[in-house]
Amino acid sequence: MGKISRNKRPKSLSHGRPPTVHKPAASLSAKATRNLIRSHHQLQKSRARALADGNADLVGELDKKIAALGGLESYQLASKKGQSKDRGGDSSKVLIEWLKPELDRLKGCKSRLRLLEVGALSTRNACSAVNSIDVTRIDLHSQEPGILEQDFMERPLPTSDLERFHVISLSLVLNFVPDPTTRGEMLWRTTAFLDSTPPTPSHGDLLPCLFLVLPAPCILNSRYFTENRLQAIMSSLGYTMLKRKLTSKLIYQLWKYERPVHPQRREFKKEMLNPGVTRNNFTVVYKPAKDAN
Ligand SMILES: C[S@@+](CC[C@H](N)C(=O)[O-])C[C@H]1O[C@@H](n2cnc3c(N)ncnc32)[C@H](O)[C@@H]1O
Repeated sequence: MGKISRNKRPKSLSHGRPPTVHKPAASLSAKATRNLIRSHHQLQKSRARALADGNADLVGELDKKIAALGGLESYQLASKKGQSKDRGGDSSKVLIEWLKPELDRLKGCKSRLRLLEVGALSTRNACSAVNSIDVTRIDLHSQEPGILEQDFMERPLPTSDLERFHVISLSLVLNFVPDPTTRGEMLWRTTAFLDSTPPTPSHGDLLPCLFLVLPAPCILNSRYFTENRLQAIMSSLGYTMLKRKLTSKLIYQLWKYERPVHPQRREFKKEMLNPGVTRNNFTVVYKPAKDAN
């Protein structure tokens, strides 16, 4: 088996990802779209495992399979279809509904809410249609000029509140990340980008906050992850859940962030929490960095 030496291993998700292939998906049924998304997730997970094992041959084989499916671009097209009205809709509508009290406060003010949308597929979703929100959109593979091509895991950490946001949207992104430890790091990273200074002095109790959307089975049907575990990780980071909505497919949550005065970050390992043969293996592992604050 061909080995990848440690210093040649990709440092980040985007480096570790196979190249995108420009082969737009044809018009697909809802079932075929779901299957395509599932196959992408499975291949990406196997690829992350092969990379961690240094198995270059297997990585190459999996890259070919991912490219044969149409690469990241076909995955994004399938995800965009999932956002269409007939396939469950745009998740940012829920965010706008939840932010309404803050948006009402901003009426007639010059101040605007700064929102970072990680994993943005379009510049025309519900949050982009609100005048009082300034949206910064990033994605590993930008599909429009208004979306910056950037890996959130490599976005330079802010040095002032001007580089921070009142709201971060992480909608169907955490489950896309193939490695559980990187998922934990991604959640921690969100805290570094949230601004504790409200856009108006008379703000409510929602800001700063993280909008998190996951496929419901990640939380409700995993052997290694539960809603209690998510709650424990989030509260150790300084988050408190304000809103929650469950549909047959997705779980939406709004988490308010408050920088802990005395951070007590705990480690969360992969552990059997909910045994069962029909369950999936989704999990989030969190290892506090020594210098994390
Ligand atoms: C399933 S799509 C979700 C899109 C949209 N937010 C939604 O709710 O439908 C996941 C997107 O997240 C992007 N993504 C995953 N990890 C990312 C990262 N580290 N930085 C930026 N974008 C990322 C992928 O490129 C992909 O376009």
